Formats: sequence, structure tokens, C-alpha cells
Amino acid sequence: MAVRHFLTLNDMSTSELEDLLDHASRLRRDWRAGNVRDSLKNKVLAMIFEKSSTRTRVSFEAGMAQLGGSAMFLSPRDTQLGRGEPIEDSAIVISSMVDAVMIRTFAHETVERFSAASSKPVINALTDDFHPCQLLADMQTYREHRGSIKGATVAWIGDGNNMCHSYINAAAQFDFHLNVACPEGYEPDAKLLADHADRVTVYRTPGEAATGADLLVTDVWASMGQEHEQKARERAFRDYQINPALMSQANKDALFMHCLPAHRGEEISADMMEHPGSVVWDEAENRLHAQKALLEFLILNRLD
Ligand code: CP
Ligand code: NVA
Repeated sequence: MAVRHFLTLNDMSTSELEDLLDHASRLRRDWRAGNVRDSLKNKVLAMIFEKSSTRTRVSFEAGMAQLGGSAMFLSPRDTQLGRGEPIEDSAIVISSMVDAVMIRTFAHETVERFSAASSKPVINALTDDFHPCQLLADMQTYREHRGSIKGATVAWIGDGNNMCHSYINAAAQFDFHLNVACPEGYEPDAKLLADHADRVTVYRTPGEAATGADLLVTDVWASMGQEHEQKARERAFRDYQINPALMSQANKDALFMHCLPAHRGEEISADMMEHPGSVVWDEAENRLHAQKALLEFLILNRLD
């Protein structure tokens, strides 16, 4: 059987994604009830990080341990990856010794090249272009709070970045409409927009995007690797903040999500994390459950 990878949401069908999210919610209930599970006993996940991480590292590492397996953290700083060993050679060797590989990189192409040479499933744990694991957690969280997202309207406020790109893919996979509010010059990828023109509307003001929305989402103004643009981005995004006033323009009972880490006073007001519509802590915890489901799907080829 050909090895399956998870580089974007498009690597799974809609029905596979729905089954995976059902399974993730079961895993969440089971884990909270204290039930022990050893579906990945003796399995090993390699985790390669070119960039910093809190949630992704903790959720994958804890997830493997909770399923009876283990995870190893590999940084380019102290492996040959940082000393110029070709990515394909690294992929062949690492994948010959473990059961799956999770990789967070700058260039998306690095993950594509790694997966093309890997004999085991490869998971994109964030690149400059996509963050599909976060979308699994976000979609799980929406379902758990509001039921199916099909037919809903989601408002993305801010940068047309990796998270926004994965929201565009999610709009197609889960059948919702995405309103994007961003300043000129910070739009999502033009090809991705053109491919999903029927699902995505780009606005210039947050109020237009939030009107009629069931979920408001944002992310940092300067992503990892863009630290040198921080000041210019603060100016460009000054009017693109999610705050209670913007929430009140959305549908009653609209939810608020943020992949975190959050910057209070920038993309969100200081009080947004505690807003009645905020589900950010469930969203963060669901990284654990959604990825445990993903690991079982990719390593065992089944969900049960
Ligand atoms: N949301 C997210 O991916 O967080 P980390 O960068 O902490 O992993
Ligand atoms: N867009 C952010 C997401 C962090 C989880 C970044 O790439 O830094």
C-alpha cells in the first residue's frame, strides 16, 4: 500500500476528515475519563523542528506517549540536517528507523521533498504556506461546540498567511464560506484564491468580513521568519483586530479561535481570550486529540 502523508488538508478526503474528527472527539472523551490506550505501542515518531513550537511539540510528544509509543525531538542545530546533509538522504535514513515523521519547516518545499523520499508517513507541522494540523483541531473544536460547520460563514481577520491558506483548504473540504479581511498586499496566495473563488471573499475591512460570520479567527501579524517586518506589519494591520466590538457585528453566538500564541493589544484585544465566544483553550487542547487520531490513521491505516 502506498504510504500516506499529511502535507495539506487535501491529502485526505472529506469523509476521511470527518471520520478522523469523530475519532478525535472520542479520544478526547476517553482520555478525559482516564482510559488507557496503547494503540501505538512500540511505535516511534520523529519530530523535526526548524522553527520554535510549544503546542505542536507538546501535543505530538504527549500524544505518542499516551498511545504507548514515543517521540524524539530533532533540531537542525544538533543534527546533520543543519550541516547540509541533503534532505532526501535524511528522509531515507530517519524514515528507515521510525514509524512516522512530523516536520515543521520554513519552505513548504522542504516538507514535500522530505515526504517524497520518506518510506513512512510524513506530517506537516507548519510551513510558511500551510498549517493543516491546526485546522484539524479548529474543525474538531467547532463541531464540538456548534455541530457541523457545513454552510457556515467563517471570518479570517488579518494576514493571508499559512493559517489563512489552510482555512481556504478547509472551506473546500468542509463546505463553508470564508470571508477574509486583510490590508492590501497581505492577501492569501493568488492561485489558492483563484482555485477557490466560489468559497472565499476578500474584504478590506474586518466589519464586512465579520458580518454574518459564525466563527471569527485570527493569527499573529508577523509569523515566524517575519520578525524583521514586525514594525511595518503593526502599521499595516492596526485596524485588523478581533475585539468584542467586532464580535458584536458577527452572528449571535459566534465563536472566536486563535491558533496561539496570541498577542494581546495587536491582533486581539486584551479581553478576547475570556470573551464568551472564545474557545481558544479547547482549540489548543484539541491539537492533542486531533493529532492522536491523525497518528493512528497514518501509522495504523485505520480509526477504531
Ligand atoms: N499553534 C501552534 O502551532 O503553536 P506552536 O507554534 O506553539 O506549536
Ligand atoms: N502564522 C504563525 C502560526 C504560528 C502557530 C506562524 O507561522 O508563525
